[in-house]
Amino acid sequence: MSDLAVRIEPAPETARFQPEDDVPTLAWVGDAVAGRLRLIDQTRLPTECVLIDCSTVSQVWEAIRSLRVRGAPAIGVAAAYGCVLGARRDRAGGAEAMAALRAAADQLRTSRPTAVNLFWALDRMRAAAERSAAPTSDDLARELLEEARAIEEEDRRTCRAIGRHGATLLRDGQGVLTHCNAGGLATSDYGTALAVFFAAHERGLALRVYADETRPLLQGARLTAWELARRGIPVTLICDSMAAQVMREGRVRAVVVGADRIAANGDTANKIGTYGVALLARAHGIPFYVAAPSSTFDRSLADGAGIPIESRDPREVTHGFGRATAPEGIEVYNPAFDVTPAGLIDAIITERGIVSPVDADRIAEVLDRPWGTQSAFD
Ligand code: MRU
Repeated sequence: MSDLAVRIEPAPETARFQPEDDVPTLAWVGDAVAGRLRLIDQTRLPTECVLIDCSTVSQVWEAIRSLRVRGAPAIGVAAAYGCVLGARRDRAGGAEAMAALRAAADQLRTSRPTAVNLFWALDRMRAAAERSAAPTSDDLARELLEEARAIEEEDRRTCRAIGRHGATLLRDGQGVLTHCNAGGLATSDYGTALAVFFAAHERGLALRVYADETRPLLQGARLTAWELARRGIPVTLICDSMAAQVMREGRVRAVVVGADRIAANGDTANKIGTYGVALLARAHGIPFYVAAPSSTFDRSLADGAGIPIESRDPREVTHGFGRATAPEGIEVYNPAFDVTPAGLIDAIITERGIVSPVDADRIAEVLDRPWGTQSAFD
């Protein structure tokens, strides 16, 4: 957790649930004026299933910064709901509400730097506010709640479409590998990389998923293994350093990962360690797929060199989950993401179709398609 984040009190715990309960990753509870954003606190999984309620922008900021809500699409949706909280902060009238909304969006922009979905969602909320003629801050909050709900709903549909497209790339009986967590917990529902496995499983394909534990914060062990087990998909947890051996033994026939930001040429930022997995996959002749919605593309960047990489608290490496595992005061480098060059990616699975080969022209062709006109199997 970052030093900044610990200065803001986290949102309070409001309920607990059972692993078998169908609880959304995040949901707005109540109306625009008095409602709040309810989140699964992902830092407590898999041992505790806890819901927290954010009723201030700072609590949403803290939840994103501390990875209580995480994963590129989920961060974007949470930030969109954070704008609703921001718009109603000042009850005086339209102009002041706009100023409060802008301040909320500016604050939320500083929560994490890499996932472009955050900035995409905030820009969309700001544009909705600027279009609005709402006379009071409560009216503006009502309009913004509609926009945030639309973003969440689109994310749900997008993930299902990614799953449908991606499932066509897998075969019955395959072992597949994923890194970090790009599942329902990283989105409004269903996920991106894990959506591919969920959809394949729903079509009757038998898969075995190898889940990298994903050092240092163990999103693979804590979240991906939990999600897959919950859905009855066979999953084997491995340490990150075991991936090469697992591939050499022929246990894995495809790799599918998520993404936090994809440049115009297809270079892809994802959880630290993804680049290494892509290199291993290439060395073993295993296809490497990225699954991501179009909101994860940043076509303002020609290539991955311009993607900002988040650097996180050294204590995540030296004191993972509380216990010191390194000498006191040791120097640490802790980038949270790395960039996989497009040349190592066999295909990018989007809601609009599959990008392959991965290059700027093919990306533009698929992303500029009106969504919904192509078959799920093209
Ligand atoms: O630091 P995190 O846990 O937010 O990192 C998440 C990832 O790297 C995911 O793979 C990515 O956001 C895609 S989520 C559908």
